[in-house]
Amino acid sequence: MDLGIRGKKALIGGASKGLGLAAAQALAAEGCEVAIVSRSRENLEAARRKFPSPQAVHPIVADLATSDGVDACIRQADLWASVDILVNNTGGPPPGRSMQLDDDAWRRANESLVLYVKKMCDHFVPPMRARKWGRVVTITSLTVREPVENLVLSNVYRAGLTAYLKGLAREVAADGVTVNSVLPGAYLTERYAQLIEGTMRTSGRSREDVTAELLSRFPQSRFQQPEELGAVVAFLASAKATAVTGAAVPAEGGMLRGMW
Ligand SMILES: NC(=O)c1ccc[n+]([C@@H]2O[C@H](COP(=O)([O-])OP(=O)(O)OC[C@H]3O[C@@H](n4cnc5c(N)ncnc54)[C@H](OP(=O)(O)O)[C@@H]3O)[C@@H](O)[C@H]2O)c1
Repeated sequence: MDLGIRGKKALIGGASKGLGLAAAQALAAEGCEVAIVSRSRENLEAARRKFPSPQAVHPIVADLATSDGVDACIRQADLWASVDILVNNTGGPPPGRSMQLDDDAWRRANESLVLYVKKMCDHFVPPMRARKWGRVVTITSLTVREPVENLVLSNVYRAGLTAYLKGLAREVAADGVTVNSVLPGAYLTERYAQLIEGTMRTSGRSREDVTAELLSRFPQSRFQQPEELGAVVAFLASAKATAVTGAAVPAEGGMLRGMW
């Protein structure tokens, strides 16, 4: 199926590795011109080499966890192109339970998970509305639907972010702009490997033990692969997905138990 987005300009956050990189690769495969953001030029150069046409991939070095970094990202993206497709994604917050993290950790999570997305939408959505076409896809987490023990910051801020995205979707729906999010579960990326190592440290158990226990709880008995997430992002960003807006789409291999 041709997703109808050849030539569109897509800006993807946190895209030197993992889910962001997979989203960028899926969009590039559909003929989009892509700009990828990360804190590290070296990581971005390594990521570019994973595309069939590395020179066509525009790297943007910026720290999306800070207000100044988001401004720097916006400035560089404006010099690059008019963004048609905005994929919001950045590193996950540190793990921790309800009473384990200090106020600063909560403020930083608000900055990198919520304010980052709000600032990007404030800047890139108005021109999309003026052009009567645009796509915003935000990578969040299954914690939005079912809070996960030891991930209080993800539970709290991503649920709040999803409420923001739902409101925004309705505000811009009449102008051909859709706003959706994707909820990953257990994709085997660096981030997920770190979560496994954290469990190994706190529980004193081996990697094999921790991994086997996780897999026994996953309905598909496997980790998902980043390209599976990339495919969902590409569809939501596509010209075919006109009827989907304000949705928080699980892509978690059936891990969620709730029906809604
Ligand atoms: N993997 C999963 O199954 C899963 C499940 C639920 C939620 N999530 C969430 O989905 C997001 C992506 O996860 P992932 O597994 O792909 O993570 P990952 O493998 O750690 O990759 C994160 C990417 O974001 C970049 N990044 C991190 N902090 C950044 C910052 N402050 N500014 C700009 N770029 C930044 C990293 O690049 P540099 O290091 O080069 O900056 C890297 O390219 C995270 O928020 C994660 O919590 C993932």
